[in-house]
Amino acid sequence: MSETSAPRACVVGWPIAHSRSPLIHNYWLRKLGLAGSYDRAAVPPGAFPAFAASIGKDGLVGANVTVPHKEDAFAACDKLTATAAELGAVNTLWREGRALCGDNTDVAGFLDNLDDEAPRWREQADAAIILGAGGAARAVIAGLLSRRIERLFIVNRTPDRAERLVERFGARASAHSWRDLPRLLESAGLLVNTTSLGMVGQKPLAIDLSPLPPQAAVADLVYVPLETPLLATARGRGLRAVSGLGMLLHQAAPGFERWFGARPTVTPELRALIEADILKSSER
Ligand code: ATR
Repeated sequence: MSETSAPRACVVGWPIAHSRSPLIHNYWLRKLGLAGSYDRAAVPPGAFPAFAASIGKDGLVGANVTVPHKEDAFAACDKLTATAAELGAVNTLWREGRALCGDNTDVAGFLDNLDDEAPRWREQADAAIILGAGGAARAVIAGLLSRRIERLFIVNRTPDRAERLVERFGARASAHSWRDLPRLLESAGLLVNTTSLGMVGQKPLAIDLSPLPPQAAVADLVYVPLETPLLATARGRGLRAVSGLGMLLHQAAPGFERWFGARPTVTPELRALIEADILKSSER
């Protein structure tokens, strides 16, 4: 394949300068010896439809979609996977014939990473606590329900948002306030933070994890810093800690496979590459 006809993909968002997706996909392209490229596309709100129309032209085989375009991407699609339809948000686009197709790989990314970093977690977890009720919480909830988790406690600052998720996801879910947390922790085999608390520049997420059973796993979707206070506390207690970086790496794999035709793997080398980039940018 000549250089000009090599497939190219990108991540589209606004702002987009800090996205690490190009590092991930270009690592896989190099590793697998494939022709192709992956860039960033800075597309302001309102300009998304024109960007979507460009997919399938001039070698652009698809895109990852991030803030603020995930709902616009959902609306632009002609065909959706069942997961994207359930979530109402799309993070991966490609074209089949004339049809623009969309998936939401956050669900598979979350589950694949959980399986990787806390093997057999499901055997220890009949109940899970989700902190937060935004878009990330929806993906986590859909994933856990697909694994037939028995009870889901959704804890959120704004009660209405948690209630809306309960209405959407049904009887196995219930809505709670942060005050309920100590009691809920006693019966949970999995705790997942989907809020921005603990992220660099945000308030810390300070939770007393002592009521959690010793076999529980604690997952944080935050990956800057790499080791959040929540994960450090979990590790300190001997609990299994599941990283946000792992989810970022795993959610990238399905898109890569669609666009470039080979299934990539999340290797320790890839993880080290992205960790080094995160550490470098936090030193700046
Ligand atoms: P995303 O799509 O990444 O999930 P989001 O929809 O903005 O982002 O959701 C952010 C989540 O973090 C929400 O659950 C939010 O709580 P509210 O629904 O009450 O806003 C939660 N969050 C953010 N900052 C918070 C804070 N300081 N204290 C408690 N929860 C916070």
